[in-house]
Amino acid sequence: MSSTETQPLAPGSLAGKRALVTGSSRGIGADTVKYFAQAGASVVINYRNKEARALKLVDQLRDGGAEAIAVGADLTDADSVQGLVDTIREQLGGLDILVLNASGGMESGMEPDYALKLNRDAQVDFLSAVRPLLGPGSRIVFVTSHQAHFIETTDTMPEYRPVALSKRAGEDALRELIPSLEADGISFVVVSGDMIEGTITATLLQRANPNAIESRREAAGRLYNVSEFAAEVALAAVEPVPANNTRYVGDVTEFLNA
Ligand SMILES: NC(=O)c1ccc[n+]([C@@H]2O[C@H](COP(=O)([O-])OP(=O)(O)OC[C@H]3O[C@@H](n4cnc5c(N)ncnc54)[C@H](OP(=O)(O)O)[C@@H]3O)[C@@H](O)[C@H]2O)c1
Repeated sequence: MSSTETQPLAPGSLAGKRALVTGSSRGIGADTVKYFAQAGASVVINYRNKEARALKLVDQLRDGGAEAIAVGADLTDADSVQGLVDTIREQLGGLDILVLNASGGMESGMEPDYALKLNRDAQVDFLSAVRPLLGPGSRIVFVTSHQAHFIETTDTMPEYRPVALSKRAGEDALRELIPSLEADGISFVVVSGDMIEGTITATLLQRANPNAIESRREAAGRLYNVSEFAAEVALAAVEPVPANNTRYVGDVTEFLNA
């Protein structure tokens, strides 16, 4: 994110707030965490493999005056998730914003049901592990794609279909928790966006389907880049909860009419 790009949140607007973004050493998660830090929040960068990148981001955010820590945890590993929860409790005392950004399922060499394990089961288990850290007034944001959110009515590329189905299953499982979250004063928002230019997922899909990015750009009118989409994720953490707890990024007429 360069200094010329939009800062979606006013400086100081998150002073005193504590935010965790899963999978935030790189990509959309990293830009989201930067926006929170620039708005004055204390931030937790979670990584699975990319420790060096996470530590570099911590240094960068601290140089900018923010409070930031990096904590490694594989969301599919209960012990490492508990370690993350314990570290946050010790160092920050709790959380005001949780962004469920980490995702996967297109990695090679994983077990056949890995997408479902990470994108559904691990998301639900993660939320239940982190929930004691979330008090009244806190916000959970679940990040997904239009291709996953609308998979029941609009098919997608075969390489992405298992991920799309698993992310929609994760979204549905999390949505079932909304009444009990709201009873505890915790709000929940799903952010859904089209293919994001400059991401590894978009590159992989383009490699398998040489027209993938162009055809989505044509259908959607425009595609968001990483920092633009991250700005929407950051806004979803602070703005009023939208209708049906869903924030659509870009035009979704095509999907709603399908
Ligand atoms: N890419 C798109 O076109 C697009 C479009 C719309 C919505 N989205 C959504 O935006 C979010 C971020 O997408 P992205 O493209 O930036 O993703 P990405 O590049 O694939 O990054 C995924 C992040 O998740 C982390 N991660 C993966 N498996 C993990 C695990 N088992 N435990 C903990 N962390 C794990 C990775 O950590 P390490 O790097 O440390 O391994 C990485 O930081 C996703 O929810 C995705 O569905 C993406």
